[in-house]
Amino acid sequence: MGYYMKSVIEYPPGPTDILPYAMARKFLQDPLKTLINISRTYGDIAHFKFGRQNVYFINHPDYIEDVLVTNYKNFIKSKGLQVSRRLLGNGLVTSEGEYHDRQRHLIQPTFYPKRIKSYADVMIKQALNVSSSWQNGTVIDIHKEMTHLTLAIICKTVLGYDVKPEVDEVGDALLTCMNYFNRLLMPFGELIEKIPILPINKGFRQAKTKLDSIVYRMINEHRTKLDKSQEKEDDLLFTLLQAQDEEAGIGRMTDQQLRDEVMTIFLAGHETTANALTWTLYLLSEHPTIEKRLQEEIYSILGDDRISVTADDVPKLEYTQKIVTESLRLYPPAWALGRQAINDYEVGGYTIPKGSIILMSQYVLHRNPRYFHEPDRFYPDRWTEEFKKQLPRFTFFPFGGGIRGCVGEPFAWMEAILLISTLCRQWKMKHVPSHKVVLKPLITLRPKYGMCMKITKR
Ligand code: HEM
Repeated sequence: MGYYMKSVIEYPPGPTDILPYAMARKFLQDPLKTLINISRTYGDIAHFKFGRQNVYFINHPDYIEDVLVTNYKNFIKSKGLQVSRRLLGNGLVTSEGEYHDRQRHLIQPTFYPKRIKSYADVMIKQALNVSSSWQNGTVIDIHKEMTHLTLAIICKTVLGYDVKPEVDEVGDALLTCMNYFNRLLMPFGELIEKIPILPINKGFRQAKTKLDSIVYRMINEHRTKLDKSQEKEDDLLFTLLQAQDEEAGIGRMTDQQLRDEVMTIFLAGHETTANALTWTLYLLSEHPTIEKRLQEEIYSILGDDRISVTADDVPKLEYTQKIVTESLRLYPPAWALGRQAINDYEVGGYTIPKGSIILMSQYVLHRNPRYFHEPDRFYPDRWTEEFKKQLPRFTFFPFGGGIRGCVGEPFAWMEAILLISTLCRQWKMKHVPSHKVVLKPLITLRPKYGMCMKITKR
């Protein structure tokens, strides 16, 4: 009788719960606290089980750089993002391998800063529209307002579509889809899909149909205009329709490809920014001295006459940029990233078996006292040139990095700076103290009960 030696995997330290799914339960109850505790207790690399899945939680900027940049080919996106395929199909966020890299190559130029500059007017116009609808002295949910505003901006800049008449309907459809994905991510979530008559499945199908009908309608309208050489608008869909890379032999996209890419940009490009804006306005409301300095900067650029900034003013708004950077540090809308190893992988002296999940958390690393003095303090002045230079690349990574990093980063920066300066020029926003602010880390980090603020005209 022969015998075999079973190889023993050496795991990094980490919480070992005896009850099955205990860790999953803890994680789902309060993922941010759970991950902070794990990083404080076990350091740069920790291991835990999520159900039956092995998870390696890495907390060192060099390890993160290795995964996202140096060895990115060894990984695919983990289940967290795969569920969103139900809506996004095979767009930039969800596609993999060579297909992803090809599409990225095609789409990237539409997000070059020079191109993004042409969207500035739409961003400012939409911000002024929202601002003029506000009533002095009232209490509003800033999170809802920011979500509608960024939705209107993404619809206009990407699709050339004016969402205003149906902003609630489209916003609700998107929210239905996000909630659906979160449910699918829960333990046993995959069972939900197996029962098509469940109301949650029906709700998702209806929401998807609504969004599809808008996207396909806009693709058709754009194609017709292009074929008839009619006057074109300056939106991203036109650029995508014409995008091709002759050098690399990449032809134009089919309607299905366009639909998937547009739906992806639509979803990735407004919820994240809405949260970034909400958290920034909240932090400003809680820090009057910082808010006063912001006012001084805006005033120094606009003077008494102008009511809003322009794209050319953006580089001059240095303090505003520091404020947004510090807000992205404390409340990163993308609070964690996951990857799945497709081959065994070495990190920190451990071999990670293929199939394992690697988890990285912006929220956790951005609050690590090893890199950020007084990490929980909102302190925009920390972002000096010297400070940025000595900071290891992946200690601050709100937009991820490498070939899968955020393609919309220049868009997001332009939008955040323009909107914060335009809205704060006209309004003072004060968080209502009785309103509870609770973090809700779903796919993005959002305020669980919205963000009630009293607005006063300046
Ligand atoms: C503050 C705002 C934003 C934040 C914090 C953010 C964050 C991120 C992060 C962390 C990733 C990488 C995900 C991963 O590696 O798994 C990502 C990818 C992506 N983002 Fe953003 N994003 C923002 C705004 C935008 C905007 C405005 C757009 C489009 C207009 C956009 C479009 C995308 C797309 C298409 C991807 C997938 C890129 C790829 O895999 O090639 N994002 N974003």
